[in-house]
Amino acid sequence: CGIVGVTGTNQSVSILIEGLERLEYRGYDSAGIYVNDESGTDYLVKRVGRIANLKAALTPEVQGLAGIGHTRWATHGVPSEENAHPHFSNDERFYLVHNGVIENFKQLKAEYLAGVEFKSETDTEVIVQLIDRFVVEYHMETKAAFLKVLHLISDDSSYAFVLMDRETPDTLYVAKNKSPLLVGIGEGFNLVSSDAMAMLKRTHTFMEIQDQEIVIVKPQEVLITDFDGNEKKRDTFRVDMDASAADKGTYPFYMLKEVDEQPAVMRKIVQTYLDESGSPVIDQKMLETIKQSDRIYIIGAGTSYHAGLVGAKMFEKLTGIPTEVHISSEFAYDQPIMSEKPFFIFLTQSGETADSREVLVNVKKQGWPSLTITNVPKSTLSREANFTMLLYAGPEIAVASTKAYTAQVAVEAVLAKGIGEYLQHQEALDFDLKQQLSLVAVGMQAIVDSKEKLESVASRYLATPRNAFYIGRGTDWSVALEAALKLKEISYVQAEGFASGELKHGTIALIESQTPVIGIITQDRTAGLTRSNLQEVISRGASVITIATKHLSQTDDTIVLPDVDPLLTPLLSVVPAQLLAYYTSLGKGLDVDKPRNLAKSVTVQ
Ligand code: G6P
Repeated sequence: CGIVGVTGTNQSVSILIEGLERLEYRGYDSAGIYVNDESGTDYLVKRVGRIANLKAALTPEVQGLAGIGHTRWATHGVPSEENAHPHFSNDERFYLVHNGVIENFKQLKAEYLAGVEFKSETDTEVIVQLIDRFVVEYHMETKAAFLKVLHLISDDSSYAFVLMDRETPDTLYVAKNKSPLLVGIGEGFNLVSSDAMAMLKRTHTFMEIQDQEIVIVKPQEVLITDFDGNEKKRDTFRVDMDASAADKGTYPFYMLKEVDEQPAVMRKIVQTYLDESGSPVIDQKMLETIKQSDRIYIIGAGTSYHAGLVGAKMFEKLTGIPTEVHISSEFAYDQPIMSEKPFFIFLTQSGETADSREVLVNVKKQGWPSLTITNVPKSTLSREANFTMLLYAGPEIAVASTKAYTAQVAVEAVLAKGIGEYLQHQEALDFDLKQQLSLVAVGMQAIVDSKEKLESVASRYLATPRNAFYIGRGTDWSVALEAALKLKEISYVQAEGFASGELKHGTIALIESQTPVIGIITQDRTAGLTRSNLQEVISRGASVITIATKHLSQTDDTIVLPDVDPLLTPLLSVVPAQLLAYYTSLGKGLDVDKPRNLAKSVTVQ
């Protein structure tokens, strides 16, 4: 979910709406705003679905000097107007937006709010009703009541809250635990949001909020105290990103723009991380820490997990350090037996994924060192890990990740080479990463320039079938997993990525006449084997598409990729898969950037 709050300007409604539009990637099941003009008039407007629906519902009189807004990714309760935020107390005095999950809301409801009528099924309404009860019945000050409720919320809960009270209409009462939230400092007004990007049009100056703090935000003042009432001083920081970096320009969808940006992202990574001689420029302290480690653990979710699978092979080859990759939501609750000196790498485009953060919190408790590789400077996982490497991919808006995946793989290559050189590992010393990444950039450009071909392959093979398979071995299998995820998440074709040798051990039963099977063939040792596996499905009626690297290609291959070092082929083989998914989704008339049920940044576990 995404949150925005503002106080101190008659521009409040437009600030809330433009903020919510920027935050729509965090969820788009429903949206709502509450605004107050500070002289007794206020408005609450909520709608199911996209921000556009909310915008259309706003009449000209809906104006105010302060307000809060929310775009929802449903957890408790179906997407409906009742369940949309802001939620309010029955006396219509308190209004609250929330991102997160209150794990003990049922207990709180039973213990303190017996007999109270509820309008929604949400955990959030319980919190706002509870604050109201403490203020109205126990005559507490609003801040004290808010604090009391925060103390009653169980530690395993997550929240980012912005509360408004009709009696103090210029004040935003703010708190967070695990879920992201930060303050934006304006001239004569102040803002709060889940993401700096939502405020960039209005300010470049921000203030961090830490877990277990209460922040009182007024037009001219921001007061931070910890839960024991001690005042905290906090420096501001600047984010210099240009708000227009997140515009889609002339592209019909962000996803296509982001696919096209990949060659430029590769060049940016070369410029930023490799010196004249091609050696990686990496924090020496981090290299020394990794040198002392006996095993690398890569943690990620979704596409980032898939980027980790590709990276692990590079770390093992270029550094000689054993490397494991884990899905964050699994590792958090089912940790394997650990090596003595682990080093953790967190892969996360957003830097906010709750599943991954849960692992990092525990890693810190154990005193294990960590690096976050992320696209978002100052994001939660970046702040909390010992080291950060940025992706420099620019804002990624489409829910389906493309350029962040390839940037993650490229930055992993940089790091693997950097560690390998530091350890004087011969494989790393011999690996000309600078030249190879330049070849990758050129190769990517050739693929994105062949869109028409990919559009016709998508419409011929993928427009109608119920399911599809990507197959490959080794690193090609890792790409198959990501390729299948791209296809299913935006086109709703049920797709699976499979180890090509494993298909015959069960899953081949699903192959029927015309089932698309896409083979990825980039590795010398396994090319012949994958081709045999493709023959097996052809014999059973499948329609086969091949993505093969040039020196391994045959005359009838569907897509031929330029040759690059075998460690880096995923950077090329994934691009046609991204475009096949894009054109399949487009052909079906779907909203490519905002597939159903998904959100780009998932800040609940
Ligand atoms: C969400 C997105 C995925 C993404 C995953 C991890 O589920 O829909 O596209 O891969 O989160 O996100 P992260 O920001 O941690 O890379």
